[in-house]
Amino acid sequence: MTTRSEIRFVLNDRNVSLDQVSASDTLLDFLRIERRLTGTKEGCAEGDCGACTVLVGRLQNGVLRYEPVNACIRLTASLDACHVVSVEYLSGPNGKLHPVQQAMVDHHGSQCGFCTPGFVMSLYALWMGTPEPSEQQIETAVQGNLCRCTGYEPIIKAALAVNQFGSPAADHLNTERDTNTKRLLALRDSKRVVTGPAGDQAILPADVDDLADVLAQHPKATIIAGSTDVGLWVTKFLRPISPAVFVAHLEELQAITTTDDGVVIGAGVTYSESQDVLAKVFPHLTEYWDRIAGWQVRNMGTIGGNIANGSPIGDTPPVLISLGAEVTLASASGTRSLPLEEFFIDYGKQDRKAGDFVSSIRIPRAKSNQIDAAYKISKRRDEDISSVAAGF
Ligand code: FAD
Ligand code: FES
Ligand code: FES
Repeated sequence: MTTRSEIRFVLNDRNVSLDQVSASDTLLDFLRIERRLTGTKEGCAEGDCGACTVLVGRLQNGVLRYEPVNACIRLTASLDACHVVSVEYLSGPNGKLHPVQQAMVDHHGSQCGFCTPGFVMSLYALWMGTPEPSEQQIETAVQGNLCRCTGYEPIIKAALAVNQFGSPAADHLNTERDTNTKRLLALRDSKRVVTGPAGDQAILPADVDDLADVLAQHPKATIIAGSTDVGLWVTKFLRPISPAVFVAHLEELQAITTTDDGVVIGAGVTYSESQDVLAKVFPHLTEYWDRIAGWQVRNMGTIGGNIANGSPIGDTPPVLISLGAEVTLASASGTRSLPLEEFFIDYGKQDRKAGDFVSSIRIPRAKSNQIDAAYKISKRRDEDISSVAAGF
């Protein structure tokens, strides 16, 4: 297996190649400390406030998809072959404000301004995909952005007005889409990436077979998908995660297959990616899914990670167990499937052997006489952990 040691991505309009990226390096530190791109703010460093929101573009089945994510818990090694867009990239020639920024100014959407770059980035992503959003779509888009002083009404008014200031078709992420797609394609070389110093090493397997080999060699490695749990181990608990094996880039783990029997969701599928399919097949999960974290976290966090983490406050196990879901684990010695309920052996203990990784989750279709329901009760409606999560 040929390897390389650099993490290569595009930052705004520049190609970046970083040698020896540590597993625990975060995108936010890279932007603010190394590149002095201080428009991206640090508030909580735990994915909760949205001040650090940036867009990350990645190729999915050849299509470049941009999503807002939290730079504070996004680990730099996971950015290989991605396009990172920070708030500095928004304004036009001679500092002309971007339509989202102009709308925020005209509608008084900012006071102290600390939260503003993060709101602008979430609203930018919303406007690109939904130029004429409803109030509810705006509220969902800014679930992961906290503002302490302006109040949300002016921000929602700004979001409703963005389209008056410009069209997404003319936005440079759209006019430069072909160029950036080619740039990202050129960064893909199907090599295993091994980077970072001993003691803080990051490994990006070339494909799923290679993942099994890497885990056979490093059975105690930390597997990292969206890093929305692991990111906090780094920023809050300063816990060593090396060697860290990144899996979010592996296309084989990103498939969603719908059959007559049910839906099979790859372990690398994010909450956002699974939303449309689940809404069709399990409509009772639509509202529930929007109550998991905020938009940025749903763009990174995976169902596979939620299950593998085995947290007693994880929101997907109760509803998936009630639907009769099955989890498939894989390793260098093969695959095995078991009912999700049996995967959780005890508090904090899962039926995952050294070298195993979660490869997919199968959710059977409802029988004709089956009525399904899912509820989440939390102290705050948005971006809060469950007091009670229940599936029936
Ligand atoms: P990671 O952080 O990458 O990994 C989590 C764990 O799973 C690690 O132990 C990792 O080693 C393991 N792992 C990941 N993928 C695999 C794999 N394929 N095979 C084996 N092991 C694997 N959770 C909720 O349930 N409800 C919420 O409302 C919620 N809100 C949140 C809000 C915020 C602000 C944040 C930061 C987190 C929140 N979470 C919530 C927790 C988190 O987003 C979820 O648990 C998420 O599903 C984790 O997925 P991930 O891909 O980010 O996992
Ligand atoms: Fe608060 Fe990243 S700094 S979400
Ligand atoms: Fe001050 Fe939002 S404008 S926190």
